[in-house]
Amino acid sequence: MRPFPLTRRSRLRDLYAHPVGRDVIDKLRLYFGAPEALVRVLGPLPLSWIEAAGRRFAGEGFLQMILDLVNSEPAVPGDPGPLMPAAGAISPTDEDVPWWVDAVFYQVYPRSFADADGNGIGDLRGIIEHLDHLEELGVDCLWLSPVFDSPNRDMGYDVRDYRDVMEEMGTLEDLDELIADCHARGMRIILDLVVNHTSTEHERFQRALADPEGPDADFYHFVRDRDRPGEDTSTPPNNWTSFFSGSAWMRLEEAEAWVLHLFDESQVDLNWDNPEVRAGVARLVGWWLDRGIDGFRMDVINYISKPEDLPHGHPYIGALMDFIGIEHFYYGPRLHEYLAELRRNGFTREDGTVAVMIGETPGIGIEAGRLLSGRGRGELDMIFNFDGLVAPGKVDWHRHRYPVGRLVDFWLEYHRRIDDSDRIALFFENHDNTRMISKIAGTGARDPELRRKLGILLGAVQLTMPGTPFLYQGQELAAINEPFASLEDLRDVESLNKVRALIEDGASEQEAFAEVLPASRDHARTPIRWTEDQEDDGWWLPGHERTPGFSAAAQAEDPESVLSWYRRLIALRRAHPVFARGDAERLYRGRDCVQYVRRGEGEAILVELNWGPRARWCPAVPGRADVLASVGAGEDPQRLEAYSVRITELAELTP
Ligand code: NOJ
Repeated sequence: MRPFPLTRRSRLRDLYAHPVGRDVIDKLRLYFGAPEALVRVLGPLPLSWIEAAGRRFAGEGFLQMILDLVNSEPAVPGDPGPLMPAAGAISPTDEDVPWWVDAVFYQVYPRSFADADGNGIGDLRGIIEHLDHLEELGVDCLWLSPVFDSPNRDMGYDVRDYRDVMEEMGTLEDLDELIADCHARGMRIILDLVVNHTSTEHERFQRALADPEGPDADFYHFVRDRDRPGEDTSTPPNNWTSFFSGSAWMRLEEAEAWVLHLFDESQVDLNWDNPEVRAGVARLVGWWLDRGIDGFRMDVINYISKPEDLPHGHPYIGALMDFIGIEHFYYGPRLHEYLAELRRNGFTREDGTVAVMIGETPGIGIEAGRLLSGRGRGELDMIFNFDGLVAPGKVDWHRHRYPVGRLVDFWLEYHRRIDDSDRIALFFENHDNTRMISKIAGTGARDPELRRKLGILLGAVQLTMPGTPFLYQGQELAAINEPFASLEDLRDVESLNKVRALIEDGASEQEAFAEVLPASRDHARTPIRWTEDQEDDGWWLPGHERTPGFSAAAQAEDPESVLSWYRRLIALRRAHPVFARGDAERLYRGRDCVQYVRRGEGEAILVELNWGPRARWCPAVPGRADVLASVGAGEDPQRLEAYSVRITELAELTP
């Protein structure tokens, strides 16, 4: 009998065989730090049994919620027609290999990159003036975090006018110049499409406020009191909470309605079920493509489709994930449809070429990810999967040391699972996450030698893995977290809202500060250090981390620096297409060390890493030829020195 759709009588292994079910179980495993073997052992048990055993913790309705979620996905294993149509090896003879397969991306957070006019806020001219740095680094495509007109409650992720540049950062003409300069240097450029929500200052929302009964209100999720007969309309329509603390609903007294905001109150969610919203976004994308940009990173794009009846979130999932309601919209009912439509109507140019679509997709696991970005699905090109950024059994706000091995294992396993039908976006930092060297070493990151070694190792992991690397500004300079001293130092709305909520719950300022500090997004947002004597005091978010030798200028002169290493690695990646296009096989995983081989394009390259403080033995690998790059590894092929990298050509496949 076909196990799908799933029922209470289905077995755990049937749930695990389903793409969305597998992701849900893997997410729970990650949260509890449980091994996959447990799923195999419990596999034959009916789901109703597991529900009965877990009822004490999870309460009522948990299984039903999972069944609803899983059964809403039409693609199931064993369907006629493969789950992933049109999969095929990426090879140089394949003329369809898109440019982004071979590219190295670089994320610019413009506000903190370079300030040309001295107003304390990074700007477009600052980026233009530093393009040499990026060209010398060797990156192929810039991604700019939002530069659109915005009141900046969430630093640009609250857009007021999608067709204009924010005054503090320059003008549309500056942006045109930046696009042209990038192209003239053989680089591409993508922007950030923030269309799950707009700022409350967006003209459309202002019109909706002025006339809540008019058509503009349908661009958002207004829930009117009169549509809730018999309900207590002084409370929000459901129990969803915002990612930035408190309820996800804002009361609009005059309109006698509530409006949905998954993020800050000033970021109101667009109603994608309204065809005019979708057509408007498609037109907007086309407008920017006509201006010459090469695609978009799409902000929380997996949240755009919400169930029409806006049901309550399950409290247990809410407690686990920190946000109530997420199961209803992280993989919403019409997500696939809306993405495919936007690809056709917005991202496809008149000549039939398609601008790159990169989804930021928090909460999406590997399998649902394949359904969103698998080759031939006609939706996204790549997604950002965030599961690798936390250690099993931990969440961001916990104080914990991140183990480097987690990143290595996660990426290799991810690649093994997606084979060549999909592509990984390789990243370990961005403007929402703390600096990885600090996550690994804590305050130990202030030791310049350890900082340099970890910077080198991380660069080697990211740039030798299969997938498309996305560097975040400052990563190539081994940037670390900022030693913020007090609440006054913080600017980020997520941190500040959380502080407010903690204080309302009785915490002291000191306690609230201590709680938000480990994961505050401000750590990643301090200004880039271009020179050793740079003064950051006038910046919107001052950076006081000043360890000598880590500015761009100092590192550019130093062949042993992290910056020089990144340049070498990117050049190596370009010279050996196997890094971008080949397969990966793990040969050996020891304590704090790994060996893997990249194969393809007529080449085989061995990568060996030791990220621990002690030398490690490793097995002999036959056919070693030239060492292409090595830092601290020594000559002995069966030994890897502490904190070392060795990248070696293997004779076996070299023509
Ligand atoms: C994800 C962005 O990366 C983050 O910076 C922003 O706050 C939220 N989406 C809301 O737009």
